[in-house]
Amino acid sequence: MDYEVERVLIDRRTISQKVLELASEVGECYSGKEFVAIGILKGAIFFMADLVRFLPPDSRVKIDFMAVSSYGASTKSSGIVKIVKDLDTDIKGRDILLVEDILDTGLTLSYLQELLRGRAPRSLRTCVLLDKPDRRRVNVNVDFKGFSIPDEFVVGYGLDYSGFWRNLPDIHVAKAIETPAKKTQPKE
Ligand code: IMP
Ligand code: MG
Repeated sequence: MDYEVERVLIDRRTISQKVLELASEVGECYSGKEFVAIGILKGAIFFMADLVRFLPPDSRVKIDFMAVSSYGASTKSSGIVKIVKDLDTDIKGRDILLVEDILDTGLTLSYLQELLRGRAPRSLRTCVLLDKPDRRRVNVNVDFKGFSIPDEFVVGYGLDYSGFWRNLPDIHVAKAIETPAKKTQPKE
């Protein structure tokens, strides 16, 4: 199965406006407080970078990253979350904002929230850019949310299919296509 990029679902201006709104909500929430924003690699890199740049200039924010792999090269959730890169920061007693690209089945975020809570932060909040509520399999608490989207596979602005298309500035729907190799496979 292969995928191709189709129509724009959310264009760059709309993304930017929303990230600005989220940044002002986040800024208000942590006003006067130091906090650590934790971006989940690699999908959240663009969102994270924009979000922290849009925070009020007097924000006391530090950033860190974790890399997890949940899907491998497929688009279906396996439910297995592997920590590929852990934090550099000791989050015990600190205010933490988890920043993720998309909330889909919820398996990744619920796993990460539990893992981070186990490290005894003072507070743990979660911010996601996209939410696909129709696909939820476990309940996940999210404090800041950008867009709810339909159950379609999306790429761009950090989101990938098999590692590609993260670089696209807009968020697009990606559709499954039949690979020509399969169609023309000769019979034995
Ligand atoms: P969940 O564990 O099912 O909630 O999946 C979350 C992860 O799945 C995200 O961090 C993404 O990497 C990936 N994912 C879910 N839906 C999409 C999509 O539509 N496009 C690209 N990646 C997705
Ligand atoms: Mg991801």
